[in-house]
Amino acid sequence: VDVDPSAYEHGQIDGRPRMYTEMLEQPASVERALRGRLDERFATAHLGGLEMDARELRAVRRVKILGCGSAYYVGQMGASLVEELARVPADAEAASEFRYRDPVIEPDTLYVAVSQSGETIDTLLAVEEIKRKGGRVIGLVNVVGSAIARACDGGIYLHAGPEIAVASTKALTTMYVGFALLALQLGRVRDLSVADGRRLVAGLQALPAQIEQVLDGEERIAEAAKSLAAAESLFFVGRVRGYPVAREGAQKFKEISYRHAEAYQMSELKHGPLALISPDVPTVAIVPDDELTDRNVAALHEIAARGGPLVVVTHPGVDLGELRAERIEVPRNERELDPLLLTVPLQLLAYHAALSLGHDVDKPRNLAKSVTVE
Ligand code: G6P
Repeated sequence: VDVDPSAYEHGQIDGRPRMYTEMLEQPASVERALRGRLDERFATAHLGGLEMDARELRAVRRVKILGCGSAYYVGQMGASLVEELARVPADAEAASEFRYRDPVIEPDTLYVAVSQSGETIDTLLAVEEIKRKGGRVIGLVNVVGSAIARACDGGIYLHAGPEIAVASTKALTTMYVGFALLALQLGRVRDLSVADGRRLVAGLQALPAQIEQVLDGEERIAEAAKSLAAAESLFFVGRVRGYPVAREGAQKFKEISYRHAEAYQMSELKHGPLALISPDVPTVAIVPDDELTDRNVAALHEIAARGGPLVVVTHPGVDLGELRAERIEVPRNERELDPLLLTVPLQLLAYHAALSLGHDVDKPRNLAKSVTVE
């Protein structure tokens, strides 16, 4: 693992870990990522850096997203957005695996490389593999002029500003915004209606203030984090849109608290993990108010019946019935955009769990901000 020393030169700000200040910057960084890219009149997004006209966007038959770590998980969230808004089949894959399986590269697939640093070697080599085989790749990259940005055919800069803490927060939420903009533009040159386009433009515009609201709930989240930190092992569960949120939540938690945190699809609980549920193994559940809420609540009852403590990240008004659960609420937005706001409390959960355990949240053991050698 190659540690980039420049990543640490800035250190703490006002005695606060960098991760903390970076989480707090998210309303501003999301605002920057959106700036100048929304078109209210035509209810769409304009991403000039894609270097693709409407005809080329309409010719895309599939979207394949590649990234590592948190960038991979946000890529999964992005794949859902592309499928839901543009109705183009989309999936995300770990860039670190991609080149080893001699991937088939299709001319009508749009490949998307996601990376904060733009220097992650596995993602860069995946881009080179695609280019070598004649595919078109765009980058969702934060660092301007980085290796991945240069290797791509076009892309979307995230404008998150410098991210120093190893655990990605503000870069991740701007990546999500990048995918939402891409899905909106791709959708509007295809079948996404003006009404839906307007709904999503308004939803995106509401995000900065709503992130602020989630951050204001820090105290309550910190309390929940302390009880979770006492457990050796925990689950993060979600369904469909909520599943990559759970994966990212578990990733953040294990990276900085060093607890065993495992993400699972809510629907798969009964096919294995329920055997592990006990009063010592808490579950963090992602339960947005959507078409799957009732199924999710039913699964939570299975956990509660086995004595598993629950922290539920949900929306106001979601009825959890008799369930005994610690409840963390995020504001409603458009359903398709729910994952972003659901992700923010999980950052605070991991952060406060790590702090309560006395860990250096900015420099977790064995991890580097960017992994630039094989
Ligand atoms: C490392 C970091 C992760 C990050 C991943 C991808 O593993 O520890 O936090 O998500 O690299 O980094 P990138 O710069 O490509 O987004």
